[in-house]
Amino acid sequence: MTTPIKTPAYITDECFLERDVLALRKIADEAGCKLLYSPKANSVSTVLRKIAQHVDGFGCSSEYELKLVDRLCGPETPLHLVSPLLKEETLDEIGSRLDHLTLNSLSQWALLRAKIPQRTQAGLRVNPELSFIGDPRYDPCRPNSKLGVPVSKLAETASNDPTLLQGINGLHFHNNCDETDFASLLATTRRLQDRIPEFLESLTWINMGGGYLFDQAENTSDFFRAVEIFRDTFGLMVFIEPGAAMVRRSGMIEATVHDLFESDGMQVAVLDTTVNHMAEVFEFQFEPDVLGHVDGGVHDYLLAGCTCLAGDVFGEYTFDTPLAVGSRVTFLNMGAYTMSKAHRFNGVGLPTIYTRHNDGTLDMIKEDTFDAFAQTSGVAEIAIA
Ligand SMILES: Cc1ncc(COP(=O)(O)O)c(C=O)c1O
Repeated sequence: MTTPIKTPAYITDECFLERDVLALRKIADEAGCKLLYSPKANSVSTVLRKIAQHVDGFGCSSEYELKLVDRLCGPETPLHLVSPLLKEETLDEIGSRLDHLTLNSLSQWALLRAKIPQRTQAGLRVNPELSFIGDPRYDPCRPNSKLGVPVSKLAETASNDPTLLQGINGLHFHNNCDETDFASLLATTRRLQDRIPEFLESLTWINMGGGYLFDQAENTSDFFRAVEIFRDTFGLMVFIEPGAAMVRRSGMIEATVHDLFESDGMQVAVLDTTVNHMAEVFEFQFEPDVLGHVDGGVHDYLLAGCTCLAGDVFGEYTFDTPLAVGSRVTFLNMGAYTMSKAHRFNGVGLPTIYTRHNDGTLDMIKEDTFDAFAQTSGVAEIAIA
């Protein structure tokens, strides 16, 4: 008997996850670089445990992510941290667990360098000052960027004040988003090679970040060339830390239609999910992929979320068979930046988390509860029956 899925549900398909993680493993091995996973894209426990079997560590962005990976994947799992803010108390608490630590600014480095444990490889985030992203909200190289030391400043410091950089043995950059063409990665590599060649020679590692959809790229030769430059010309150990490329295609959100009515000539289908559960649908205003949608189908609906936000809608979808109250609607390619950005606006619960195993069986991993919601409101003990 198959387990009935409680909706709204977030489902990881382990078969897809394994396929995409192994594809990245193969590319990293062929290129001769180390593969990290960036858990900000998806930190569901079963996803982290599965990925841990195939990567060389995790590129975390906060204390909680570090602690979560440590707890789920074990004390031997290599941990890297890059964040615009590292508090001294965080370093005191978990510094000894860090294999690689990237500071975001020269001032954070000056403040914390004495406290970094001996075993931890210290690095700086560099802003290559090369923009590839049209939307400045997502461009780490935008004017007045808060992310990383501008490469021009790094070049100046390396030549005028080299003692300030003593103890730095790596660099980290991340300046793209959902890119399928590695020309920008190669351009970034050449920019660093051109601006800070001697500093690169003094280092032992470089992290090229995430931001590339390896699975959708037609040509990876520029990626291989970029790794080769850092590895062979400068003798660096090269890391990549993809997020979305590893997890996006393995996740789906299943919802139930609860109401159907007409509004200005359009059939509206109200679902028990919401853009709360797919924050980027609202942020980027894109229409997510829906199973069964066919161009030119006869039954047309505006799929709508269940919160009071007027713009909590997914878009217009057409199906061959009509929807009815109780019909299921499945959103595809939901594995990245959905559960990690999901919230409970309007008091709507989070999706129930499931894993679908390779043999087709389904496990419920976690169900959201009123108590969990109440705790986020500061309720320590639940007094309401
Ligand atoms: C520093 C850093 N590394 C890795 C990633 C993962 O990027 P993606 O999921 O686009 O591969 C991000 C995403 O914002 C990032 O900021």
